[in-house]
Amino acid sequence: MAATLFEDLAPAERFGTAPALLRHRLQHHALFSDAALVELIERTPRDRVHVNTMPRDATRPDLWREGDMTGVPGQDVLAAVAGGNIWVHLKRVHETEPAYRALLDALFAELEAAGFTPTYRRSMSILISSPAMNVAYHADVPGQCLWQVRGRKRLWVYPARAPFLETPVLERIVLGRAADTALRYDPAFDAEAEVFDLAPGDVATWPRNCPHRVRNADCLNVSFTTEHWTDALRAGYAVDYANGLLRPLFEPMLGGRDPSRRTAGAAFRAKFALAAAHKATRRLHRPSRMGVVDFRVDPRSPSGFVDIEPVAP
Ligand SMILES: [Fe+2]
Repeated sequence: MAATLFEDLAPAERFGTAPALLRHRLQHHALFSDAALVELIERTPRDRVHVNTMPRDATRPDLWREGDMTGVPGQDVLAAVAGGNIWVHLKRVHETEPAYRALLDALFAELEAAGFTPTYRRSMSILISSPAMNVAYHADVPGQCLWQVRGRKRLWVYPARAPFLETPVLERIVLGRAADTALRYDPAFDAEAEVFDLAPGDVATWPRNCPHRVRNADCLNVSFTTEHWTDALRAGYAVDYANGLLRPLFEPMLGGRDPSRRTAGAAFRAKFALAAAHKATRRLHRPSRMGVVDFRVDPRSPSGFVDIEPVAP
């Protein structure tokens, strides 16, 4: 199959094994025009929309505030983002919008045709964010790609090992017992980060659980994230999930060491079965970033929002 959605797929075969940058061709795609984004903002169900703000120079996730934009016209939301200090996240658009689902499937079909491992349970979320906004240090559970469509942003990707990623904390994130921002961040970590300055047409990806953070350049940003699973990602996830369950039982025997994270052999097969059985017996209640809502999007305000009386979620 000829690649049409990508300009450069050369690193596709090592996609997911090291931080990597590829080139796509979606900068001028109709699904990311202002008109399409206005419609998407207005159509996306309320429970799939997050709008956040955070002081521009802050990196602490507890300063992340949750807002509301119910009923604000899409055009006004775009104006508020362009001039203000907010972050609009349209979650899992592939589930409600067939055109975005088709694009998501087509992107991964091209990646897989170029040598990337087969994927499943893919998802797509759209990010429209203000100049200089940042996203705090965190680690995601599934495979991730960050696709830059408009504007520029800097991405820091850190190794998925201690001290950047402490295994007990990762296990709690995987089990849904801690937020994805529960990791400790130290500015000294930056010396070991891979740094990508993303421009329109860039798509970055990194290995499972690599912590990362993002800062927008001084311009409006339109990006989207995709998540995916592969057999290798699922095996690693199952081991961390089972190790998180077993850790309290085996802690006295481990003497401060981490349990094995091997994804082969009899112990792995037992852990995979344990994780599957445990997941089947409970519904995962992953702590959401959704907190008290205390602002409302308003393009007439220089910040793009006005404070409101706090409303509990
Ligand atoms: Fe992320």
